[in-house]
Amino acid sequence: MSRNAWEERPLAPFGMEIDIRLDAPLPDGFEQRLVDLFDRHKMLIFRNQVMTEADQVRILENFGRVLGAHGEYREISSDGALGSGPLTWHSDLAFTEEPYKIISLHAVAVNDGESWTAFANSVDVAARLPEELAGKIRDRQAVTVIAPIQSSRVVDYDTSTEMPHQIRPLLIPHPRTGEPVLYINWMQTSRIEGMDRDESEATLARLFDELYREDRIYTHHWNNGDFVIWDNIALQHSRCDLTGMNPRKLQRIVIADKSFFDLLPQFQVGDNRISAWGSGGKELVLD
Ligand SMILES: [Fe+2]
Repeated sequence: MSRNAWEERPLAPFGMEIDIRLDAPLPDGFEQRLVDLFDRHKMLIFRNQVMTEADQVRILENFGRVLGAHGEYREISSDGALGSGPLTWHSDLAFTEEPYKIISLHAVAVNDGESWTAFANSVDVAARLPEELAGKIRDRQAVTVIAPIQSSRVVDYDTSTEMPHQIRPLLIPHPRTGEPVLYINWMQTSRIEGMDRDESEATLARLFDELYREDRIYTHHWNNGDFVIWDNIALQHSRCDLTGMNPRKLQRIVIADKSFFDLLPQFQVGDNRISAWGSGGKELVLD
């Protein structure tokens, strides 16, 4: 088969939509093309897919080590483990030493067009920072913590670092491409090391303004059959409030070496603190 066996459509302001049936035999060269497009565009979107969990695993295996099913939520449901509340901007597991690398979601039962996930591009923004602001954060480190509430920003300069947290440079090299990533986010980043409160908050506010400018955001409205793969380091995401909608189910496969439960052994699969945590406004209780 030739390259014409699939169609590619760049999305704005970033991402690539690809037309192909992923549960059928894939054309020669397609899988390498997928990886190349992913590294360039950070997000791939496919529509009208019918994929089993095994089909989705097979596609994700092109990108790295798929996290096993043990101790991992492979189906997320708004009436299940991860709750139905809004989630403000974050990167999954940014407060651990091993954030998920890649996340994929396949909509198996959603309310067509009613729910959305939005994406911000921390690589594009890093490349476009005003010179003076880039200079201000060069060689600085930020503190990123587990957010006790996920629906809004509740972490700040005084947030305790007794909570699970990471201290890392604001600009990190992307693990696959080496590009600088502005790896801070609204939900989880509490402060910049070595700055007093006023300077830290003012600098973070300016960086967040750059990250979340409306014309830099891609918002995906979910329809049944949609399949989205995104880079959890290069992109950060947020989701709408699902409360009151019919429950939705998404099939989730991620690229990571460790699960949430491997990294945070104080929690166990099925722990009802986690669904409460994802349900908007309820504070996470840590041991
Ligand atoms: Fe997330």
